[in-house]
Amino acid sequence: MSFSDNAKFITFEGIDGCGKSTQSRMLLDVLNKTHSIETILVREPGGTTISESIREILLHSNRGELGDRSESLLMTASRAQLTQDVIIPNLELGKCVIADRYSDSTLAYQGGGRGIDIDWLIDLNNYATFALVPDITFLIDIRPEEALRRLDQSTDRIEGEGIEFQARVRKTYHDLAEKFQDRYVLLDGHNTEDDIQDKLLKEMMRRGLI
Ligand code: TYD
Repeated sequence: MSFSDNAKFITFEGIDGCGKSTQSRMLLDVLNKTHSIETILVREPGGTTISESIREILLHSNRGELGDRSESLLMTASRAQLTQDVIIPNLELGKCVIADRYSDSTLAYQGGGRGIDIDWLIDLNNYATFALVPDITFLIDIRPEEALRRLDQSTDRIEGEGIEFQARVRKTYHDLAEKFQDRYVLLDGHNTEDDIQDKLLKEMMRRGLI
């Protein structure tokens, strides 16, 4: 898939509580206001009426009710709808799209966390995303102990999986950063919000993305 030079697809990844939602909102502001780059922000799972309905099932089903395979298929179904209805049309308009989670979340959570075969999930993701790959992926890396400390009591079904699950997810993210070195940027999530934003903007400039 190829879009005009202005169209950039930026994704944020990391374990629950790493701070990526804050960073993606800060970047949205900077790109729109300081750089006058028309930018939209989407979050996964969700972002369209259908994807939000799927999100309800994914995050608020009773514990033990949703099987791992169904979970993988629903995550990617939500992604397929969001990609088709929002992400691709906006990239076609030459806009910049920031996604708070995308395909790599499925590899890290359903692959690393639940133990589903990663290569199979890569194929499933390719199908769901029409083979769309981010231009850059920011991995906000924090220790699971710190992440849990930051999360409040009201966690959803997946956030409530516990520290060992989050540790497996984090390890898989590290593996993905190795595997997809070209697009991955690892950021230390223990630093201050401003430091992290500063570093990611510098990296985007270095790569000629802004
Ligand atoms: P959300 O409340 O949006 O959390 P966060 O702010 O951490 O993104 O919940 C999304 C949850 O869904 C989160 O625990 C990660 C999980 N998830 C998967 O397991 N697989 C996926 O493919 C995606 C997109 C999310």
